[in-house]
Amino acid sequence: MAAICGLLLALNMSASIANPSSDSETVEQRVSALLARMTLAEKIGQMSQVNVGDSYIHDYLAEGLRAGRVGSVLNEVNVDVVNELQRIAVEESRLGIPLMVGRDVIHGFKTVMPIPLGQAATWNPDVVREGARVAALEAATAGVNWTFAPMIDISRDARWGRIAESLGEDPYLASVLGVAMVEGFQGDELSAVGTIAACAKHFAGYGAAESGRDYATTNVSENELRNVYLRPFKAAVDAGVTTLMTSFSDIDGVPASGNEFLLRQILRGEWGFDGFVVSDWDSVRQLQIHGLTENDRESAFEAATAGVDMEMHGDAFSKHLEELIEAGRVSLDVVDTAAANILRAKFRLGLFEDPYTDPEKLPDIANANALATARKAALQSVVMLKNDHDTLPLAAENLNSIAIIGPLADAPYEQLGTWIFDGDRELSVTPMHAIHSLVGHELDVRYVRAMENSRSRVTEAFDEAVQVAADSDVAILFLGEESILSGEAHSRADISLPGGQAELVRRIRQSGKPVVAVILAGRPLTLTNIVDEVDAILFAWHPGSMGGPAIADLLFGVESPSGKLPATFPRMVGQIPIYYNQKNTGKPPSPETIVHIDEIDAHAPQLSLGMTAFHLDAGYTPLFAFGHGLSYATFNYEQIATSAAEIRLGESVVISAELTNTGAFTADEVAQLYVRDLVGNVTRPVRELKGFRRVRLDPGESTTVNFELHTDDLAFYGRNMQLMTEPGEFHAWIGGSSETELRTEFRIIAGD
Ligand code: NOJ
Repeated sequence: MAAICGLLLALNMSASIANPSSDSETVEQRVSALLARMTLAEKIGQMSQVNVGDSYIHDYLAEGLRAGRVGSVLNEVNVDVVNELQRIAVEESRLGIPLMVGRDVIHGFKTVMPIPLGQAATWNPDVVREGARVAALEAATAGVNWTFAPMIDISRDARWGRIAESLGEDPYLASVLGVAMVEGFQGDELSAVGTIAACAKHFAGYGAAESGRDYATTNVSENELRNVYLRPFKAAVDAGVTTLMTSFSDIDGVPASGNEFLLRQILRGEWGFDGFVVSDWDSVRQLQIHGLTENDRESAFEAATAGVDMEMHGDAFSKHLEELIEAGRVSLDVVDTAAANILRAKFRLGLFEDPYTDPEKLPDIANANALATARKAALQSVVMLKNDHDTLPLAAENLNSIAIIGPLADAPYEQLGTWIFDGDRELSVTPMHAIHSLVGHELDVRYVRAMENSRSRVTEAFDEAVQVAADSDVAILFLGEESILSGEAHSRADISLPGGQAELVRRIRQSGKPVVAVILAGRPLTLTNIVDEVDAILFAWHPGSMGGPAIADLLFGVESPSGKLPATFPRMVGQIPIYYNQKNTGKPPSPETIVHIDEIDAHAPQLSLGMTAFHLDAGYTPLFAFGHGLSYATFNYEQIATSAAEIRLGESVVISAELTNTGAFTADEVAQLYVRDLVGNVTRPVRELKGFRRVRLDPGESTTVNFELHTDDLAFYGRNMQLMTEPGEFHAWIGGSSETELRTEFRIIAGD
């Protein structure tokens, strides 16, 4: 009898949850009503995420779902299995609460966009938003309703393998593009078919891993944390991101998954975030490995009290939270709040109304729009680093033959990059194939792979490659890193071209033919040893499914390169961290003060060399600066002006410049605005990006680029960690890279 009553009760309850009594019932009312019915075990169940992984655990999982012990699953993309898991949760558990189904959909699902760092090089929020939209629609066909993206960790260290997954070094660029990704995944209406919840990760400071070694300790001062690392997260929270993920690393001695300062004081207290926080994979139990706790029970205590709402793949919460509450060590409020945060997301996603997936209601995978988006993103992501003597674009009509050489010309899997759990390599169009399709009918296209992979040191095939280059009109080298060389746990200490590639470049140079390097990589590389050996460089990142056609179009001038660097390229690894928005120091270097190690006069030893902030062997400038990227057009910026010489706090100023395409090629240009606050309560960066705009101009065409800056846009955290804009002098620059010299000034004065 009791069992029957229980069953009726369960049916009743799931019916009442699935059909809210009235439309006006708010999400908060629904959350409270549901929470009031839940047992402690069911609340803790919501806080547990289980990896579906191998099917052998399915029975165990089903049992957990029926008992209300699981709030979310991850890593299942068979839609029938996902629907069945949802069915068990909704129809066979007491309260019928649907599941969050998580997956790393980082830069595409089946159709793969460029790696996020490549997308950042587009400086185009529309393309980034559309890429995430395509990814969401494709992932939704598998029943995925939650992606673990965007990764908006600021990274100033190209050794870190996860820089590939980041949006680069700049807080403003990462904020704008991170928000665009959130919008793309979540759409206008989170409950619509084909939208999925986003997850801003990794909160916080993960990108500052010491020496770029993944998972390593981070030491970031609170001021730097607030002014740099947290900015994209604040922007994502303001844009309505549903979830945040903690970082694996420790920061200022406290691992992020047990960091109350980050999770409660800043995220909830200061920012008012009302979504939920998931730990990274098993990072709750790792609190013990960090040495913060003695055992899993204490790890559960630290994580829950710090503000982790859901534990990803670990059982510290499920095993120990109940006991901690009964012992009075964790308050019931902590669990109530966490469960409420998770339920709120589920209501907003519309999962209670429709937990199931019908792929028929969604667009086809890899449809024309998906492929066009991937192609456009790849096209705009490629950065032309150099182009001596207008080597590019290649004029097919003036050539008879080209040599395609290198391990990454025809590597369908490698061009997809890191984090492509579901990426379909069959969709990849390689540069080799695309070049054949584009010019194969008019040119003799010869191909020598020369190296089995990018790491190979075998030089046997180099002679043949040199011969083919010598017999052709131009040599195009496809170099870089395979996808395995970047991504999680794939950091490198030496970030030059691996294996025998530099040697291959030197040998091909001896052919006497023009040499173009197309570099596919997951990070900025130190290219110092090859930069003078080639005539032109297209840096293509890992460009995704449609990388080939995009690269072919750029090589042969169907379009002009228009990507701009989202991260600084060092000359040498020893310069890292090197980033454009550095501080001035008390001894800023200049061309006059620096001395090169080879110029030290051995016969007249000097006691001091420059006495400014530079390296004797590398100077102080990067090989390629943030924001750099060449075009087949030439762009002239002039007449920089401000709408007012002086504004009050609370007002705006418009900074503008005239931009003209003085070249002969229709092309996109990314105009960039940088600002310097000359005197601050804490030291301020020498330049900070404050605006950018992609514009397309025909030869001879001009436009005025305007950037409106409110004084709030110039706010920073000072010594007392309060956000403020200080009156004073500002410099502003507009141009095509962070090195632009076109400058104006304005002044902010106190308000009334
Ligand atoms: C660990 C990674 O750090 C995180 O970014 C990812 O989302 C999870 N694993 C799940 O795969």
